[in-house]
Order: sequence, then structure tokens, then C-alpha cells
Amino acid sequence: MSLYNELLPDPLPANPLSIASGWLADAWAARDQPNPNSMVLATTSVDGRPSARVVLCKDIHADRGYLTFVSNYDSRKGEELARNSRAAVVLHWDHAHRQLRIEGLVQRAPDSESDAYFQSRPWQRRIGAWASAQSQPLPTREALFAQIEATAQRFGTPVPGPENEHDSLDVAFDIPRPPFWGGYHLWADAVELWVEGESRYHERARWTRTLTIAPAGPQPGPWSATRLQP
Ligand SMILES: Cc1cc2nc3c(=O)[nH]c(=O)nc-3n(C[C@H](O)[C@H](O)[C@H](O)COP(=O)(O)O)c2cc1C
Repeated sequence: MSLYNELLPDPLPANPLSIASGWLADAWAARDQPNPNSMVLATTSVDGRPSARVVLCKDIHADRGYLTFVSNYDSRKGEELARNSRAAVVLHWDHAHRQLRIEGLVQRAPDSESDAYFQSRPWQRRIGAWASAQSQPLPTREALFAQIEATAQRFGTPVPGPENEHDSLDVAFDIPRPPFWGGYHLWADAVELWVEGESRYHERARWTRTLTIAPAGPQPGPWSATRLQP
């Protein structure tokens, strides 16, 4: 990726998420950071206190207009999203000199989608999802191991550990998805693409659209785009 040569397309394209998903694919191909799909997810409490943490972006569905991530529905972020579905994410690819900001409304993914994704995960992570009440207090680290052991016993699996951490996906155990764990869709209604420019004359463009909430899910209007000063 050459710094200073890349510019945002002119005229700006109608759908910024096409570029965004291309950037994510570029980051996967470059593999110059351990988690090219890591993103900071910001949520807020009911009284407006923001909180942010890293989660993994599983996919950007450019045509449908949302990105996906997975988490524990009872975690702090899960509780906050249940009360205020507005959220923002940032992906920063330092080597590629690119920043992607997305804002929008978060909805739980359909159960069928979460089930399918959960079953695609190695059994050790499926045990982990059951064993950890994410964001709840933990008296000692040993208490977590006790929870993991009890969960392994419940589902008839070995206790996850270094000796089996590279088990292939063919090692099958019947571990259903916990009801408190699953996917989320972040429906975008604002996207900003940022490219580092020479002498800090960065390129920025922001797209916005309306999302109308309907029983079938958010119905996006057309995007409108504008360039921004750096
Ligand atoms: C690289 C990286 C990837 C992570 N991916 C996820 C993820 O996909 N889902 C998740 O719930 N937590 C993930 N975490 C852990 C979160 O940052 C966070 O600790 C956890 O979700 C609890 O956050 P909360 O208490 O604000 O809900 C990841 C952390 C890092 C550093």
C-alpha cells in the first residue's frame, strides 16, 4: 500500500460499504497485524456514559448495509445495546494508512445465523462461551477454571487446555449455542472513510442515510456523501 498515492474515488461512490468491505479484505490479504478485523465498538449507558472495547468484525455486508460481530448478550456491551441500540465502531489499519468509522443501530442477528456461526467454532471456544459470564465479577482466576471444568463435564468434553487447543474442527461435540451468546448486526447510517495524506492533508468523506425501523428489519434510504476537511 503506498502512502500518499491513494485517494478516495472522485466522484465518491454511492455505497461506502463497498469500499469498506474492500478495505477489510485488503487488511486480511496483507496480514500485517494479528487481528486485521479488530474494531473498537463504542456503546453508551442509559445515562449517556460511553464505553468502548475491541471486538472482531466478522463481515461487512455491503449490499444489505450492516456489519456483524458476536458477543455475550448479558455482557456490559450487551446490556447497553439492549437499552440503547445506537453504537459506533472504528477500524484502524495503521500499515494501510486507513481508518473506517461506522455508526448506526445494532440489532441481534437471527437465531439461525447465530446458531450456524456458533457451530462453526472449535469446541473449546463453544465451551468458553458457556463457561464465562462475560463482564460479571470473578473472585479468583481459579474460579474461572472451575467454571470451565464444570462446563466441560456438563457437555462431556475434555477440559480445554494446551494439549487439545489445536484439535481440528472434525472433533465433534454436541454443544448448543448458549441463549445469552450470539451475533449482532450493526446497520450503518453513517460511514466515514479516512486515508492518510501527505503533510497531514488527509482524505475524508462521510456518507449518511436514514434507517426506517420496520418489522422486517431496518429499511435503509439512499446514501448521501460529502467530503470533509481533515
Ligand atoms: C483482539 C480482540 C478481539 C476481541 N474480540 C471480541 C469479540 O469478538 N467479542 C467479544 O465479546 N469480545 C471480544 N474481545 C474482548 C472485548 O474487548 C471485551 O473485553 C469483552 O467483550 C467485554 O466487554 P464489555 O464488558 O464491555 O461487554 C476481544 C478483545 C480483543 C483485544
